[in-house]
Amino acid sequence: MRTIRIAVAGTGYVGLVTAAVLAHVGHDVVGVDVDEERVRTLNSGGCPIFEPGLPELLEESRENLSFTLDYREACADADVVFIAVPTPERVDGSANLKYVFASVEQVAEAMGPSCVVVVKSTVPIGTGDRVQRHFESLLAGTGREVEVVANPEFLSQGTAVQDMLHASRVIIGVESERAREIMARVYADLPSPLLFMERRSAEMVKYASNNFLALKIAYINEIANLCDLLGADIDDVARGMGADPRIGDKFLRAGIGYGGSCFPKDTKALHWLSSFHDREIKTVKAAIEVNAVQKISLIKRAHRYHSDFEGLTVAVLGLAFKPGTDDLREAPSLDNVAILLDAGADVRVWDPYAMDNFKRFYPDEVTYCASIPEALADADMCLILTEWPDVLSLDPAVFVEQMRHPLVLDGRNCYALDEMARHALVYESIGRRTVGTAR
Ligand SMILES: NC(=O)c1ccc[n+]([C@@H]2O[C@H](COP(=O)([O-])OP(=O)(O)OC[C@H]3O[C@@H](n4cnc5c(N)ncnc54)[C@H](O)[C@@H]3O)[C@@H](O)[C@H]2O)c1
Repeated sequence: MRTIRIAVAGTGYVGLVTAAVLAHVGHDVVGVDVDEERVRTLNSGGCPIFEPGLPELLEESRENLSFTLDYREACADADVVFIAVPTPERVDGSANLKYVFASVEQVAEAMGPSCVVVVKSTVPIGTGDRVQRHFESLLAGTGREVEVVANPEFLSQGTAVQDMLHASRVIIGVESERAREIMARVYADLPSPLLFMERRSAEMVKYASNNFLALKIAYINEIANLCDLLGADIDDVARGMGADPRIGDKFLRAGIGYGGSCFPKDTKALHWLSSFHDREIKTVKAAIEVNAVQKISLIKRAHRYHSDFEGLTVAVLGLAFKPGTDDLREAPSLDNVAILLDAGADVRVWDPYAMDNFKRFYPDEVTYCASIPEALADADMCLILTEWPDVLSLDPAVFVEQMRHPLVLDGRNCYALDEMARHALVYESIGRRTVGTAR
């Protein structure tokens, strides 16, 4: 079977992992991006994002993987072009497709006589049809042709490489036998089952799945908040619920809510789309509202101890929206630190990977600490926002040794209550009893 020549437009979390994995299984892959620094880094053997296993995979696939700023170099000979550019939210919550259509126009200019264009970005239902029509008008009279495929991505940052190498399923929306056949060849050497369907259904699978997971998180957080009040323990409740195979134990961890580049914007986009068509999905609206409040719920708890934060030293452990990534998009740390600084607190932060990115928002306003003990030094309270392994494995005695007033507000339920009870500290988490003496 002839190697497939693939171009991947957009070399971020999704595009770069796609390019590396498809090169790894033997295809000839060229990644194209508009970000000069990114392409320079990639061409000099570096990896512009933190993603476990990705630098190794890029290194291993170097022979049949290259990067360019030039669409013609990437697309002129390509059989298949993946589009993996951002689809951020607009102010009204709808998905902004300007990068997708900019990429479409660049592909139309640069491509050869015929190719399959695969939309991997998360796009509203019907976008594949719009992209197909747009290509048809751009290519009219040139004798060149495109078939558009929807192939949404389900990887999670932090485990992206493994998620793509061993996807539970690959969703492929096609409108022709030819497109189906070439997509089967693209994925032939990966072990994942391929689920073929029509383009619009494939686009809907992505939104329906992400929104379902966001709902699950919002739901368990609301149950946790009620546990707080009524004296139940959310860990036990989630364990009991998760043992039911109809519910499953994933995405049942209570905390300070979801962030990242997907759930926040995808919930808003589906809500916008459903409202636009007069079929508002009320459950999704509720998840959005619940999450917005949950993200800053530790601040409300902190106010039980300090009516105002002026002059307080606050340690923040974890900035990334979740462990395993340096990504800060929609991370709760941004909301929480903004509130603390505005209230006059002296904020000391620690994160193993995301501090450089955080400096873009707060170059000087917070103190960046190289270790957890350094962040905790003389602090009046500590907020735990990301459950990094270093946080999970921390000896709780360190809070007592380092902090002026060991008040620990844990937004990720990192520690066992029995263990925390052995130390002279006050410990509050989500949906569990408070340990220590609340003032
Ligand atoms: N990050 C995730 O976990 C994840 C998971 C599933 C789906 N998605 C979806 O995948 C899409 C991409 O997300 P991401 O997180 O990889 O984004 P990203 O911001 O990490 O990367 C996007 C890349 O596209 C480049 N780009 C922008 N315009 C371009 C153009 N015209 N031509 C070529 N490159 C261009 C940017 O420079 C950047 O390098 C989004 O629609 C997102 O919703 C993301």
